[in-house]
Amino acid sequence: VPGRPPGPLRFSGAKLVDDRDHPFRAPGPGDMRGPCPGLNTLANHGYLPRDGVATPAQIIQASQEGFNMNNNGARFAAYSAHLMNGNLVTDLLSIGGKTRKTGQDPRGQPALIAGISEHGTFEGDASLTRGDDFFGDNFSFNPTLFDQFVDYSNRFGAGSYNLTVAAELRFQRIQQSIATNPEFNLRGFRHFTAFAEAAFAVNMFTDGRKTGAQAGHVDIDSARSFFRDGRYPRGFHRANKPSAAEGVELVIAAHFVPPGHNVGVNNYVVDTSQGGLTDLCGFYNFFINTTIKGLYPNPTGVLRRNLNINLDFFYESFNPPNCPQIFPYGRN
Ligand code: HEM
Ligand code: MG
Repeated sequence: VPGRPPGPLRFSGAKLVDDRDHPFRAPGPGDMRGPCPGLNTLANHGYLPRDGVATPAQIIQASQEGFNMNNNGARFAAYSAHLMNGNLVTDLLSIGGKTRKTGQDPRGQPALIAGISEHGTFEGDASLTRGDDFFGDNFSFNPTLFDQFVDYSNRFGAGSYNLTVAAELRFQRIQQSIATNPEFNLRGFRHFTAFAEAAFAVNMFTDGRKTGAQAGHVDIDSARSFFRDGRYPRGFHRANKPSAAEGVELVIAAHFVPPGHNVGVNNYVVDTSQGGLTDLCGFYNFFINTTIKGLYPNPTGVLRRNLNINLDFFYESFNPPNCPQIFPYGRN
């Protein structure tokens, strides 16, 4: 039976996380890495299993311990990813692509159980440092995109990545995808995460010893270390308080883009049918009734039981206002 999600940290202040018990080691052959610079770093320092395959509970604990991610944010990310990309029977999720290390796939369901790199689930378009799947690689560090990240940090952040830079770069990446990717998708889940992730880097890649005016500014060398190498800058201290997407309202307010998708290049069509940032209940309903039911139309046995357990954990992490829980597979 999947374990209960870990609770918040007991000590949730800044502390050295690039410590002697967690040395950087580059991934070896067969170790899974993917589009999330946070999880890549946690695996490269041994906060997660170094092979990049972990339970949702391990991912929550590691995100809290290694980055001071807040408990709700960590649970939301881990359970949504696990429901879309993990093996619900073995309770294992790959932080990269598909691997046998997550165990035997449950049979007879469309779910691919392909890890968090699987496009169109959690992973989506207009990432800051990864290309769109349409162009062939949606998970590797992209040096050209990082050059743009540096350029924007110089122009809008005096050489650091902060919320002002996040707002401008988030918008720029969306404009680039609209102009070049005929399959650009910014609906539902991706509408929610694209903005949130731009703030994640501000809050959780900042050294927790920085306070006052220094806080929330990530220097370029640190950003490169996280995004490219999945590595803490030497002596890195995690954030001095739990956080996740704090400040995202500034990113959204600067350049709001409604949920939608391209129907051919340069033809962005608004589509609110999957919900999004401004319709969390719509997002929740689509996620359960369409995304999850599409992956698992008729689960039975342990698969059904574990789906229900993970759906409860997901709903508890999210708790959308005025939005009752949906039970697509009945109640246990
Ligand atoms: C991106 C999953 C925790 C920072 C992503 C992506 C996935 C993901 C699937 C790719 C989305 C995309 O850009 O297409 C998760 C899961 C987590 C988690 C399941 C479990 C708790 C974290 C943590 C941090 C973080 C703790 C920071 C310390 C980021 C950032 C991006 C990202 C900055 C955007 C990368 C870019 O746009 O180039 N995450 N993540 N994530 N994640 Fe995570
Ligand atoms: Mg992406």
